[in-house]
Amino acid sequence: MRIFDVLSKAKNDKKLLEAELLLAYILGKGKEWVIAHSDDDVSVDDMKKFHDLWIRLAAGEPLAYIVGCKEFYGLNFLVDNRVLIPRPETEFLVEEVLRLSRLDRFASKKSVQVVDVGTGCGAVACSLAKSSDVLAVCAVDVSQDACDVALKNASNLGCKIDVICGDLLGPVKDRSFDIIVANLPYIGIEKFDFVADDVAKYEPDVALYGGSDGLRLYERMFAQILEYGMAPRYILGEFGFLQAEALRELVIRFFPNSNLEIKQDLSGLDRNFIITSL
Ligand SMILES: C[S@@+](CC[C@H](N)C(=O)[O-])C[C@H]1O[C@@H](n2cnc3c(N)ncnc32)[C@H](O)[C@@H]1O
Repeated sequence: MRIFDVLSKAKNDKKLLEAELLLAYILGKGKEWVIAHSDDDVSVDDMKKFHDLWIRLAAGEPLAYIVGCKEFYGLNFLVDNRVLIPRPETEFLVEEVLRLSRLDRFASKKSVQVVDVGTGCGAVACSLAKSSDVLAVCAVDVSQDACDVALKNASNLGCKIDVICGDLLGPVKDRSFDIIVANLPYIGIEKFDFVADDVAKYEPDVALYGGSDGLRLYERMFAQILEYGMAPRYILGEFGFLQAEALRELVIRFFPNSNLEIKQDLSGLDRNFIITSL
């Protein structure tokens, strides 16, 4: 069978991209190579491997876990079932932190201190460190597994970030940060409990669930900021599309002297918040 035949069949099933990426993984080549060599034969051994992986994919296992990597902000991150697969919409947080770090208010600083809370595979922290020499980036996660993956990614990508295991801002309570960025778990257990079956089945619970209404980790992080006397200029985060009002109430309660902006994702859904201290 030729690469072309494998891809044509996948195209009929509306899974062309998945087939290209699986073949690239099996053949140890890039996706572009696979597309450019569509007349090459696929060996029987490789066809068998393809078939086995295709069955896993059809059963709902995420492609990123099968091939062990996911692209985020133009960088290739190792991922496995110990960490959430970084989502494209989270790139917004990277863009925004970079934009804010270039503002005049930081111009006199030698470095802008940033902490990424709930770093997972290190996608946000590494993307920031790779994109700016001005940022000093620290990454925290409660999961030692996630910290191991983040450290591996930082080393592979040549990023200088501190990776620290612990609960929210607890392990860095004596440090001061200009910007706190977080993509904490925000699926609710009782309310706002929307989660796709394959996400619930394959991705780690610690990366998904944020208490009764999904916002309990953000609530605890805001409480820590006050308790530790931290004074970040900006706090940025991602949340679920129906949680904007509940989040606004939290922000008013914890940071009455701040400005809250809610930003929409590409589908027009409320997705991110930026809290600016006044
Ligand atoms: C939604 S995932 C986000 C991962 C990564 N930042 C990303 O955007 O792809 C949330 C992460 O928060 C971590 N987490 C959950 N509870 C935490 C806590 N109490 N303190 C620190 N990290 C926590 C999880 O282990 C998980 O890696």
